[in-house]
Amino acid sequence: MAETRALRSHGWFADQGVLGFTHRSWLRNLGHPDHAFDGRPVIGICQTASDLTPCNAHLREIAEHVKRGVYEAGGLPMEFPVTSLGEILMRPTTMLFRNLVSMDVEETLRANPLDGVVLLTGCDKTTPALLMGGASVDLPTMVVGGGPMLNGRFRGKQLGSGTDVWRFADARRTGAMSQADMNAAEACMSRSAGHCNTMGTASTMGCWAESMGLSLPGMAALPAVDSRRKAMAHVAGNRIVQLVREDVRMSSILTRQALENAVVVNAAIGGSSNFAVHLLALAGRLGIPFDLNDLDRLGRSVPLLVDLMPAGRFLMEDFCYAGGLPAVLRELGDRLPHPDAITVTGGTVAENVADAEVFDREVIRTAADPLRTDAGLAVLRGNLAPDGAIIKPAAASPSLLQHIGRAVVFHGVEDLHARIDTVECDRDSVFVLTGVGPRGFPGMPEVGNFGLPRKLLESGVDDAVRISDGRMSGTAFGTVVLHVAPESAVGGPLALVRDGDVIELDVDARRLHLAVDDAELAARKAAWTPPPRAAERGWVRLYVDHVSQADRGADLDFLVGGSGAPVPPGNH
Ligand code: FES
Ligand code: MG
Repeated sequence: MAETRALRSHGWFADQGVLGFTHRSWLRNLGHPDHAFDGRPVIGICQTASDLTPCNAHLREIAEHVKRGVYEAGGLPMEFPVTSLGEILMRPTTMLFRNLVSMDVEETLRANPLDGVVLLTGCDKTTPALLMGGASVDLPTMVVGGGPMLNGRFRGKQLGSGTDVWRFADARRTGAMSQADMNAAEACMSRSAGHCNTMGTASTMGCWAESMGLSLPGMAALPAVDSRRKAMAHVAGNRIVQLVREDVRMSSILTRQALENAVVVNAAIGGSSNFAVHLLALAGRLGIPFDLNDLDRLGRSVPLLVDLMPAGRFLMEDFCYAGGLPAVLRELGDRLPHPDAITVTGGTVAENVADAEVFDREVIRTAADPLRTDAGLAVLRGNLAPDGAIIKPAAASPSLLQHIGRAVVFHGVEDLHARIDTVECDRDSVFVLTGVGPRGFPGMPEVGNFGLPRKLLESGVDDAVRISDGRMSGTAFGTVVLHVAPESAVGGPLALVRDGDVIELDVDARRLHLAVDDAELAARKAAWTPPPRAAERGWVRLYVDHVSQADRGADLDFLVGGSGAPVPPGNH
């Protein structure tokens, strides 16, 4: 099919002089025929497969199916790697590298002869990193996720990625589980290709992409190994070629309406608390004003419809068989703020899911009979978090959502580990962890759901209020206040809390208060000294010098916004 207009890749391939010769000639070593360079859409396939990111390793195979679809539609696929962020192995935390990968994606897209791109995502940070980088370039863009692992199963019981590890760790500390059983369970949890099978961050991010209209409907919940995922990757290959021909840019899908829909969907599925920081960062790249107040407002009174771990009972495989995200979107109906938002299918959100059905009401509830009525992430404010903090009420203990207790303070992760089992505390204690924010740690690790003192666990206490400037794993649960801004390392009030101070949490009132008078806080602030910079060189130096606070998405200040996709000058 002859293209009706000159595409961006013409800037490389149309030239009949030295430049065009060079660009075409070297690519011919891949075996491309003459007509590969006739002006057809060139489609990047942004690859995050890596043996170091086992959740995404099967994306090598998925990419082949995207390629089939691209060729079939008359495009030319070009698969390329970007740094892959494997949640499980990378230290100190993948979040330290999300923005780095977004730069990798952005610069690779802009520097190469690409007219559109399919982003292959899966493990937690791979999705926001690729979306952020893509948004700053704004080519026609689609997301093909790797999908979740099959259900884990151990001795007749479902095993949820991450979630059951936290449970086992507590059981092990109290002696309720043997080391031999723990070792046996290890082999039963991750028994197929794919990302975490709970509604942790990876599944949340997959649902996010789908809810914003960047993925084909049904993509998020389909198991990684289901052959229909390959077929869907093939169709995505078809579709991205068409999006290039119609010049449907990423920014015409990722509108404010799409972001607003995503907040409501995230509440309805009980999505990860990490959603907040990634959504805010993406909004920044898109130039869409969006803040924590929007997040709180839009998520209020959204019913929790999906009964998945970590907060609930089931896993992503069950969610798929119950109807997946299309069924949730249809069930939300008018509760979705913008059912008429356009998606990569060319249809609206509502049109895409018009025929969606729920096949298991245990897994996907009706909006009239939800698991809870107020499922959104709650944004807390007060003198302890002037720029906000978040809590996921759906994963918290209802009895602790209004709570007053005395602070037990740990300064950093090492202090926590050294003293957690010996500190003075009682069942009402409020555990505070400082020094784990974006700049302080650095990278804002997922330690906010730290384990409780053994003596509390042994006395039957299985939850307590915990407060930090860090994040928590999307697979975790508990009454955990996260993302406190500004963080302690920049002198936020969290740095000023002392053992024995009274802290008041009231989630309904969205309040987080330190009951210490202003004069005393001012005196403590005057005596406070900032911690030394975490690194003097390299990426970490760049990161700590430029990272924003959690309420701005913890992006780097100079990455906010985008630079589009102009064709750069040639180098010959
Ligand atoms: Fe990769 Fe959970 S560790 S998705
Ligand atoms: Mg995770």
